[in-house]
Amino acid sequence: PVAERVDDLLSRLSLEEKAGQLTQYFYFGSAGELPADFDIDSVPPEHQAFIRQPQMVEAAIANGTAGSALFVTNAATANRLQRLAVEQTQHGIPLIFGFDVIHGLRTIFPVPIAQAASWNPASIEAAQAVAAREARALGIHWSFAPMIDVARDPRWGRIIEGAGEDPYLGSTVAAAQVRGFQGDLGPERVLATPKHFAGYGAARGGRDYDDAEISDSELRNVYLPPFQAAIDAGAATVMSAYMDLNGVPASGNPWLLTRVLRDEMGFDGFVVSDANAVKSLETQHFAASATDAAARAASSGLDMEMCMFDPAFGTLPDAVAQGLVDEAVLDAAVRRVLEAKFRLGLFERPYVEEGAVEAVLDAPSHRDLAQSAAEQTAVLLKNEAAALPLDAAGLGSIAVIGQLADSKRDTLGPWVFVHDTAETVSIVEGIRARVGDSARVEHAAGAGIPSRVFPSMFDRQDPTVVNTPADYDDDAEIERAVAVAAEADVAVVVVGERQNQIGENASRSSLDLPGRQLEQLQRIAATGTPVVLVVMSGRPLDLRWADANVPAILQAWYPGTRGGDAVAAVLFGDTSPAGRLPFTWPRHVGQVPMVYTHLRTFEPQNQGKRYWDEESTPLYPFGHGLSYASFAYDALRLDRDEIAVGETATVSVDVTNTSGREADEVVQLYIHQRYGTSSRPVRELKGFERVTLAAGETRTVTFDLGPAELRYWSAATRDWVQDPTTLDVWVGGSSTADLAAVLTVAAASDPR
Ligand code: IFM
Repeated sequence: PVAERVDDLLSRLSLEEKAGQLTQYFYFGSAGELPADFDIDSVPPEHQAFIRQPQMVEAAIANGTAGSALFVTNAATANRLQRLAVEQTQHGIPLIFGFDVIHGLRTIFPVPIAQAASWNPASIEAAQAVAAREARALGIHWSFAPMIDVARDPRWGRIIEGAGEDPYLGSTVAAAQVRGFQGDLGPERVLATPKHFAGYGAARGGRDYDDAEISDSELRNVYLPPFQAAIDAGAATVMSAYMDLNGVPASGNPWLLTRVLRDEMGFDGFVVSDANAVKSLETQHFAASATDAAARAASSGLDMEMCMFDPAFGTLPDAVAQGLVDEAVLDAAVRRVLEAKFRLGLFERPYVEEGAVEAVLDAPSHRDLAQSAAEQTAVLLKNEAAALPLDAAGLGSIAVIGQLADSKRDTLGPWVFVHDTAETVSIVEGIRARVGDSARVEHAAGAGIPSRVFPSMFDRQDPTVVNTPADYDDDAEIERAVAVAAEADVAVVVVGERQNQIGENASRSSLDLPGRQLEQLQRIAATGTPVVLVVMSGRPLDLRWADANVPAILQAWYPGTRGGDAVAAVLFGDTSPAGRLPFTWPRHVGQVPMVYTHLRTFEPQNQGKRYWDEESTPLYPFGHGLSYASFAYDALRLDRDEIAVGETATVSVDVTNTSGREADEVVQLYIHQRYGTSSRPVRELKGFERVTLAAGETRTVTFDLGPAELRYWSAATRDWVQDPTTLDVWVGGSSTADLAAVLTVAAASDPR
């Protein structure tokens, strides 16, 4: 029946209305509509178009030339706009509202890279289910997440939005997020949008939006697998990327958007452009005009244009008339969009219940889940002589140092717009709440984190953004911080980047701690007060000095609404950290890009000595993370020594918690193919499981190794292959695991 209803509607739409269904507008009018007596001429001319933009969008909705809006974050506005579409247009087709629900809506979960560091798909799925519930309550039907671009250059700010460098971890996390958002697509779920298709994470030099050159085999073995996993999990939409991939813009690339995405990968939902990416085809000197851009994007397989003003897709009727694009292309795209609207039940329930929103957004269970998610993401990078956990009872005074330690806004991370900063728990608040009256907690902001040289485009939209004032007295503040630390029994020094220094449009040329944070840390360490370093960042920063001189380092990311409580729970040992790095942590920026999945290449014995002036090993390897417990791995075994191509072996290992406390461990399986039609990485993650083990408990963990794990795209045969070969297999707690076994893969047996 849905197909019939879609066909019936489609047959009644004009070309303009079809183009309208394929047009999505930003709508920033929700914060308060203009007063009736507003004098537009009181505003500088360059801002007038933005002020008029919401009225222009409303007119487009009312005349049936808009099918979707994004950035509507208020239920009353959603209903008002929806009434225009449903009650004032000839066909009454409801709008679909999209929004960047990246790591929560009101309840903010840890940033995506942190959630990936939990290596816990169930917790990631649960977080996105809460985000979906809150979004849908507000009238949002569609999340522009998950961002599943593999990122291997931490200078790229958007590394924070993905799952890091690894295609296997990235695929697992991508699928979990799609399941969390979409579930059964019932009334508490939203459409997911794996993005940005494809290769955006490979932006040259880590510079956001710059072009990517990716070989066929790297594209298929590294960048596409998370998309395949998201598609297999049922993702309803995909967002196209901005940049040129191998010289062709991703948003106008028929090979990418149709041949690969639909024909090879089996995607059957609809493709939305990134913001203004269709018009950018002209900017990128690919299309000759807006009409050319629209025709080529649509013909490539891009179904919906996201834009601010003057949609290029508004010219599609002309393009059809000129023979630049076939009307059948538009029909197929409209069909996909209408199907999604039907699947969401928008024709039956176009409006949102305004009175019910706050109860959903305020749900205490959502906040509790945010805290447990944050506790699971913390990565203990270093812990010499059991410096952590801290013993609250044994401490008279605790110094908490750093601007980030009491910045609620920074605790949330980027890509949050509906958050409630007031209810956010900063790290210093979390520590105070945890220790109560048992210890004196004193905070000093200390070294100022210098603001960005070039401001972020998001700073304008978010009045809660924190920047260090220009007249901040660094010298005086550092003196005070050192003095406060010197007097304390322990100094918890929080360092890192502000949330607007990472994310979209936030690439960096350096990985240094911004400003004088390192100098301050060195001075505090010199006071003799024991130091615990807490890092708030979404990318690896240069921690060489800290690693050599500070006993305990905890990577806390941007942990979200209840982040301070979560960090305190880890610092004081209420929970044992079990986050694991989803990327290789370089020593310094000169080493990037750096991945654990490099090839073996010439002179392997010198692999760690490729630079003459610095190690070419990382500071911390992929998968690394310490625990307050200790674990022993034993009895690694395969159910057989040899399989034929196409068969599956089972790998088992016994993991024992050899400590006296319960804790989680992330059991990781890596392989290496010794020979085949192409060279393969020295190690590749092919399985993992986060397990909770009681004190003294032993658990057998099992993994499959079969075609799904062993197939790869061979640059030599230019196809998917599984080679007869010998495989090294390792299981352990990081990518340096040394418990090893060998599996032989024989040629497939002759079917005769
Ligand atoms: O969803 C985002 C995308 O990831 C980057 N450009 C803007 C879009 C809409 O906000």
